[in-house]
Amino acid sequence: MPQYTDEDYVLFGRLLTLAVECAHSACTIIKEGFASAHIHADSKEGRHNLVTEYDRRSEERIISMIREIFPTHRIMAEESHNESDKTAQDDEYEWIIDPIDGTVNFAHKVPIFCVSIAVRYRGEIIVGVIYQPITDELFTAIRGKGAYLNGERLSVSTTRSLQDAFLVTGFPYNVFENPGACIDHIVNFLGMGLPVRRLGSAALDLAYLAAGRFDGYWEVKLQAWDVAAGLLMVEEAGGMLTHYDGAPYRIGEQFMLASNGHIHHEMSRILLDVMQAKQ
Ligand code: IPD
Ligand code: CA
Ligand code: CA
Repeated sequence: MPQYTDEDYVLFGRLLTLAVECAHSACTIIKEGFASAHIHADSKEGRHNLVTEYDRRSEERIISMIREIFPTHRIMAEESHNESDKTAQDDEYEWIIDPIDGTVNFAHKVPIFCVSIAVRYRGEIIVGVIYQPITDELFTAIRGKGAYLNGERLSVSTTRSLQDAFLVTGFPYNVFENPGACIDHIVNFLGMGLPVRRLGSAALDLAYLAAGRFDGYWEVKLQAWDVAAGLLMVEEAGGMLTHYDGAPYRIGEQFMLASNGHIHHEMSRILLDVMQAKQ
């Protein structure tokens, strides 16, 4: 990990405060939408990949709040700038935003969704905020300073064996093509008799892992905004996060495996075995 100065940490603290304010403000819009009688959703890039006016309004609110305080920072946000905007003058800082993670749940009135906001500094995620408005749970982290849930320090679970593990996963919108053998993987873990959940929000999957609620998580084809804040939560709570094969995970990579560390090797072996058997 790069060495950060006290001065850096003062700025990271300001970034975190702003990210929390953005998440709360966006969630006033999202909660209004959730309470409305009908949530209209449009499909984008695939029938079940949805977007609602609340995704767009949440994102606009977050971006305008960031622009007001840090007009030169880069911003990568799911609905407006899929690509990070290259016009930003200050490319050291980049905000990565998922305005609603769990949109399909949101659109169907299932209360499992959140706002996810992270800041990348010189290529490393240094601040993460995940806010789940319906449960009023605020997950926060600063690199090197721990992960917190509503102010309480988090640590991953102590489950030592895969046999005792509680797992979670997710699927990309082209699941029917079985990318990365994702269907085979869930079948396999279920076939071992393990409890496996699919919440429908990658950011919450990672935040819950950091909180010790889940012991392990894997998923294929995640985007930067799905995972940027959550990966910092897991690392700061003492968890492990890698490529399926155990190599360091880099944002934008295909395969993510995250766990409490104890069951990592066992999960990795199973994920790789299944993929090799398919080849
Ligand atoms: C999705 C959720 C889901 C994951 C998908 C993501 P969205 O994000 O995180 O859990 O399985 O891969 O695309 O579309 O709700 O922001
Ligand atoms: Ca997402
Ligand atoms: Ca989203």
